[in-house]
Amino acid sequence: MGSGVSTRANSTRGVGGTPAKRVTLRPATPEDCRQVWLWRNDEGTRAASFDTSPISFETHERWFHESLRHRDRHVYIVLVDGQEAGVVRLDVAGARGIVNIHLAPEWRGRGVGPRTLAALEDVAFGSLHLTRMEAEVKAGNAASLAAFQKVGFTLVGGESVLNLVKVRREA
Ligand SMILES: CC(C)(COP(=O)(O)OP(=O)(O)OC[C@H]1O[C@@H](n2cnc3c(N)ncnc32)[C@H](O)[C@@H]1OP(=O)(O)O)[C@@H](O)C(=O)NCCC(=O)NCCS
Repeated sequence: MGSGVSTRANSTRGVGGTPAKRVTLRPATPEDCRQVWLWRNDEGTRAASFDTSPISFETHERWFHESLRHRDRHVYIVLVDGQEAGVVRLDVAGARGIVNIHLAPEWRGRGVGPRTLAALEDVAFGSLHLTRMEAEVKAGNAASLAAFQKVGFTLVGGESVLNLVKVRREA
């Protein structure tokens, strides 16, 4: 399971509600299974996914427990001032980490996404010693594209699927 818990604390503005304050990550546990299923099945998350069909609980449950056991998959619950706000995942392949994020609907548009990505970067480039983070975003998902770009991901190509990359800066 994922090592390291990261914290970013700074102010932000937001369009979806009260600005978020402190974003932290904690490793997901088996008890998070149902909540993560609800987030994964939210309409906005399904629309942002490459396979938009709903996910049955049985399929999710199998996937989730396998994911927690998988040594190269790191699943974190996003906490905003201690409240559960979504899930973010890093799939490690060599020195690369592939990012996947979905926030609870009520936490979108409040600056949580970029801060989650920044906190994940601390783990990826810190304790996991990765050198590169990558993400695939569906064309038309402007919120996701903006969130990744705000924390320094660069659009490197793609048409229906946009490829975003952030490379570790050497100190
Ligand atoms: C994509 C996602 C992670 C972005 O995180 P976020 O915290 O919502 O990002 P931000 O608050 O920084 O918003 C990013 C941009 O989208 C806009 N936006 C996001 N959600 C919005 C909402 N509900 N209403 C209006 N605008 C919204 C913001 O205004 C901001 O625009 P700006 O760059 O012009 O300021 C989050 O919205 C989410 O989980 N969405 C559903 C699942 C998804 O799309 N996952 C990504 C798959 S690649």
